[in-house]
Amino acid sequence: MIPTKSTAIAHSNTALIKYWGKRDEKLIIPMNNSISFTTDALTTTTTVDFSEEFTEDSFLLNGLEQTGKPLKRVVEHLNLIREISKTKVKAKVHSQNNFPTAAGLASSASGFAALTSAAINAVDLKLDNKELSMISRRGSGSSCRSFFGGYVEWIAMDEMNESYAVQLADENWFDIRDIVVVLKAPERKMNTREAMKLSIKTSPFFKSRLETIDTSLAQIRLAIKEKDFISLGSTAEMDCLSMHSVAITSNPSQIFWTPDTVKVMHFVENLREEKIDAYYTIDTGANLHILTTPNFEREIIKQLEEKIRPEKIISSKPGPGIKIVNEHLF
Ligand code: DP6
Repeated sequence: MIPTKSTAIAHSNTALIKYWGKRDEKLIIPMNNSISFTTDALTTTTTVDFSEEFTEDSFLLNGLEQTGKPLKRVVEHLNLIREISKTKVKAKVHSQNNFPTAAGLASSASGFAALTSAAINAVDLKLDNKELSMISRRGSGSSCRSFFGGYVEWIAMDEMNESYAVQLADENWFDIRDIVVVLKAPERKMNTREAMKLSIKTSPFFKSRLETIDTSLAQIRLAIKEKDFISLGSTAEMDCLSMHSVAITSNPSQIFWTPDTVKVMHFVENLREEKIDAYYTIDTGANLHILTTPNFEREIIKQLEEKIRPEKIISSKPGPGIKIVNEHLF
């Protein structure tokens, strides 16, 4: 079979219990399980075309030809897929995010999930979502959780030493909202990968985070099962603070927040005083995700517009898993 062209749409995901630290840098095996939900509003569409005509791989993101690190990561991932499918053919990759890429939203999660799915389909390998998640993980860890819709757990390592994602509940199970607050922020000094590495090496809190993580994971699983928003939100917010405590106490310190981030953290605390169920979670950037229930969505957006005036507000419900589509980007 000669590899051909294929297109996939992947949704991003928001971690409720964070992946922070790898036990294997090359295979991307994390230190701890993590739990996320797939976000309906944030997507990456990727077309991969393998052809004998190409002399090298190329990667276009949102219409811009990529070079340097972004291209290197895509080429390395294509090499892995070529190794698995025993082909040598080069590829042209076009990716389109429906959200601002530079805004520090989880573009590598939806990006690598879409790339993996489109490329594996183009080389005509029939793999299920668990197998796809294992390959995608090697490109970017958090991408392995984007193959399934709804609520997803990344199993760090099972009895067979395998690391992959599983679905805990689908997108129709428990309706919550993730209001993404995009803030103006300077370019990040260090990328997520390097920051994680530094945390393991230098933060005195790294070990204590791991000691409490099983309890947090169990609380989130139960909250999803029982559709208990308060437990889900408060556990997620605590875990976010735990991850950032580790990052902040790394040497050199990794502070991803800006004054505006802290302002929104207090804004969320004030919402709770007004009996509005809202919690925040933050990844490696200044932006926040405000978690809430559908009935509070409009009120929170209204208050955000009045009191914070962020660059952009993107509200999302739990979304579906990966999809192969027939319309290609080129
Ligand atoms: C803070 O998946 O981007 O968003 O595996 O090195 O590519 P690599 O890291 P990445 O890390 C995501 C970290 C996080 C937490 C999370 O999504 O679980």
